[in-house]
Amino acid sequence: MQNPVIVALDVPQAETALQLAAQLAPVVGAFKIGSELFTSAGPEIVRRIRGTGAAVFLDLKFHDIPNTVAKAVAAATRLDVQMLTIHTSGGTEMMRAAEQSARQTAAQSGRNAPLVLGVTVLTSMDTNNLKEAGITADVGHQVERLASLATNAGLRGLVCSPLEITALRRILPAEIQLVTPGIRTGAEKADDQKRTLTPREAIAVGANWLVIGRPIYAAPNPRAAAEEILTLLQ
Ligand code: C5P
Repeated sequence: MQNPVIVALDVPQAETALQLAAQLAPVVGAFKIGSELFTSAGPEIVRRIRGTGAAVFLDLKFHDIPNTVAKAVAAATRLDVQMLTIHTSGGTEMMRAAEQSARQTAAQSGRNAPLVLGVTVLTSMDTNNLKEAGITADVGHQVERLASLATNAGLRGLVCSPLEITALRRILPAEIQLVTPGIRTGAEKADDQKRTLTPREAIAVGANWLVIGRPIYAAPNPRAAAEEILTLLQ
């Protein structure tokens, strides 16, 4: 089995991120760089983390017209990231353009295409928030609808909450990669995550990758915390 643990480097400074990456690279599968770190440290932080040999998940959740998203995906692909995110609510054409851009740009540099992951409904949204935006479906149905749209548009993976995995596994082709945050071992506090699964539970119901932030980077010994999580997975 691949190492499924992706550590979210949700820290504002490049130096802190690099220290964490140096400690953790030997024991985790990848690092997630999100909007906070990318906005403060720029593309150079992606190059430096890639320089440690670790895989990078660039989580900037692109959401724009197809042409703009395609160009952003091309830029991310040239940075040699292994995964990146786009919003599925950007529509079929936008998702197709993103996937095509990832494949074409990667082929030009002789690399494998990064996994373009679709984000469905943000977990901070509930059915009421959807209603305010004119969407009458409940969250669960809207997630399933957007997930099907994404895979029909050619995306090979999705980000989902742990509690959506079972329903998505029922309706999606088995090869679709599911990446899930909201992982807690039970030993730490849940922070602001309201719906969590343990690493083992998430894999058991069908997740391929686990995004774990605070339980690792905010632990007194991040490397020991990551190793403990891997033990729980064995
Ligand atoms: O610290 P924690 O383990 O909660 O970090 C989870 C990571 O996954 C954060 O980077 C957060 O932005 C991201 N995320 C999430 N819930 C989602 C989507 C992404 O927690 N629904």
